[in-house]
Amino acid sequence: MLKNDHLDAWDRESFFHPSTHLAQHARGETPTRVIRTASGCHIEDRDGKRLLDAFAGLYCVNVGYGRQEIAEAIADQAKELAYYHSYVGHGTEASITLAKMIMDRAPAHMSKVYFGLGGSDANETNVKLVWYYNNILGRPEKKKIISRWRGYHGSGLMTGSLTGLELFHKKFDLPLTQVLHTETPYYYRRADLGQSEEQFVAHCVAELEAMIAREGADTIAAFIGEPVLGTGGIVPPPAGYWPAIQAVLDKHDILLIADEVVTGFGRLGQMFGSDVFGMRPDIITIAKGLTSAYAPLSGSIISERMWSVLEQGTDENGAIGHGWTYSAHPIGAAAGVANLTMLDSLGLIANAGTVGGYLNQTMAVALADHPKVGDVRGQGMLCAVEFVEDKDERRFFDASAKIGPQVSAAMLERGVIARAMPQGDILGFAPPFCLTKAEADEIVEKTVDSVTAVLG
Ligand SMILES: Cc1ncc(COP(=O)(O)O)c(C=O)c1O
Repeated sequence: MLKNDHLDAWDRESFFHPSTHLAQHARGETPTRVIRTASGCHIEDRDGKRLLDAFAGLYCVNVGYGRQEIAEAIADQAKELAYYHSYVGHGTEASITLAKMIMDRAPAHMSKVYFGLGGSDANETNVKLVWYYNNILGRPEKKKIISRWRGYHGSGLMTGSLTGLELFHKKFDLPLTQVLHTETPYYYRRADLGQSEEQFVAHCVAELEAMIAREGADTIAAFIGEPVLGTGGIVPPPAGYWPAIQAVLDKHDILLIADEVVTGFGRLGQMFGSDVFGMRPDIITIAKGLTSAYAPLSGSIISERMWSVLEQGTDENGAIGHGWTYSAHPIGAAAGVANLTMLDSLGLIANAGTVGGYLNQTMAVALADHPKVGDVRGQGMLCAVEFVEDKDERRFFDASAKIGPQVSAAMLERGVIARAMPQGDILGFAPPFCLTKAEADEIVEKTVDSVTAVLG
């Protein structure tokens, strides 16, 4: 294909990139990266440089790139019926089939799925439904949502508020007043280094109980959390965390929203993270892995106990005043059906468990003795390496040293994409589920090389 030499200039003149240092990019201090094609776990840029994508885009291309079955399902749907809406009971074969496939895979107490486009809008929907639910139940004061520091739930007004990362609040006048943040279940970063994992869980529970007592349980509607913290640092919860939190929520009649945008559909080696950790959510947020990002689609899976109240609400008030033009878009739905079919037929969720486990174990062994690697952690096809200035004292680097971004850049030079997570010096891995053991070995080998190059 002929190379378009104008792309660099057009990009800087015209394109407002998300999550980008705008001024540096406009000045040409950061490169324009043009990705041209991809297959399996590899992407290729327009100069022909091939990279092993160990973050599956933004942990979303779960089945891997270049899957013709999904591309064909999308093309067939576009030719047959590119669009029809889903308001007032309308649907398409793809959207109804996908709803059924999702509910067949969801925990037994779940009832229906509402479709959106991305994780942020799905979480916006969730908060609206929670508020509606409590209004129908005659509890207009029960509206606050508890999230966790370092949680990531999107970057809209409400969802950016739920997100517990400073960058998403600062200068945006967020968080909104209805949102509270409690302790992050991040054992490695515990304030009291003397705490055992069990004591740390007790501390997280005590913090939550204290917040509920302070605010009043009758003002708190829901608690939202990712089964495994994602963007906040890729942090599996300490043992026993979710059952302990679930017990507090049950005691105070607080709904649980499990944000499974990253973990849903197999990233932990099982269908949902809620299954892995014994969570009993009232809403499950799904997005990325629903279509493996071949088309935008998200969803809110609603429990039977919420659904019955929503039904009551529309009997009393008329049709639900909520909907997007592109809810259940047929092209996204066709991609979703093909994607879930492929996860099953190729046994990719089991592969995420076995090869993900192998990646985590190999990484931990390879970096165990490095003096600047404080923690290697993960679960399923999620893995993180955290850097520290002093391992024994667990002293972190100053953010200005940009150790995470430096290691990520060194990896890129060696042909592997790993993500410098936004808060802390943490290198994140979330490869496609079709990763092979040989590719896992390559990721580990190049991580060790890169860490050595940057930190000695
Ligand atoms: C757990 C979680 N929830 C929500 C979102 C927001 O999804 P989106 O970027 O599609 O709006 C993300 C995105 O990374 C996420 O990781």
